[in-house]
Amino acid sequence: MNNRIALVTGASRGIGRACALALSEAGARVVLAARDVAKLEEVAALIRAAGREAHVVALDLALGSSIKEAFDSVTANVGPVEILVNNAGITRDGLAVRISREDWNSVIDTNLTGSFLCIQHVLRGMMRARWGRIVNITSVVGQTGNAGQVNYSASKAGLIGMTKSLAQELGSRNITVNAVAPGFIETDMTSVLSDELKGKMLGEIPLGRMGQVDDIAAAVRFLASDGAAYITGHVLSVNGGLYM
Ligand code: NAI
Repeated sequence: MNNRIALVTGASRGIGRACALALSEAGARVVLAARDVAKLEEVAALIRAAGREAHVVALDLALGSSIKEAFDSVTANVGPVEILVNNAGITRDGLAVRISREDWNSVIDTNLTGSFLCIQHVLRGMMRARWGRIVNITSVVGQTGNAGQVNYSASKAGLIGMTKSLAQELGSRNITVNAVAPGFIETDMTSVLSDELKGKMLGEIPLGRMGQVDDIAAAVRFLASDGAAYITGHVLSVNGGLYM
């Protein structure tokens, strides 16, 4: 990846951590962003131990001011972000009749608005360079919907619409914008689900297993690579066949 600067949000654990490691392995200089700087430093140490460059920046996607500070600091201290992976996301599940305004807002603010603001901060640099890769991590439930996840699925479907609009807006600048839609992946986010629900989900996955974080990281790595130069506005499902 020619020492390109790649910033991954939510890189402290789970899918984001795996994406950061995969991009680093592919030759990118990675910037790890999340709220928990101590955990990011652990991931950065792994990357540096492998002889690669890693930077850490504190970022709270729920706060516009934090996003601005983080990107200003990265631009000044590392350089303009050339590959952006909008990975961080949260759930606040509940049935639609009961969901609070706060739980609606926090999911939309973090997953959708936060991702958009990150994109806004990298766009000028990418347009100037006439090169850029943006990968948004959506979800299978942004494609299918899911009872009990009205806020989360709306945020993830929103990311898909945003991906396609941006792809159309930015194509002439040689900036590709794609989404990866994970299915049911083994991370902290899914560890809280009941065994009953997990069993039910597994029965619906043709490949018969939950996905691993590296399954998603491989897709992100590909979309960020030169080999994916002619792919934009695409939603790449990585779901074991759960939805096709
Ligand atoms: P996770 O809960 O293990 O990790 C989420 C990451 O986002 C953490 O690094 C966390 O610090 C960060 N984060 C959360 N709120 C933040 C905020 N306000 N500001 C900055 N960083 C914040 O989640 P996981 O499973 O690794 O998911 C990563 C992405 O993949 C999320 O967008 C999630 O919606 C999506 N996804 C996950 C699936 C799964 O089965 N695990 C399925 C489909 C999509």
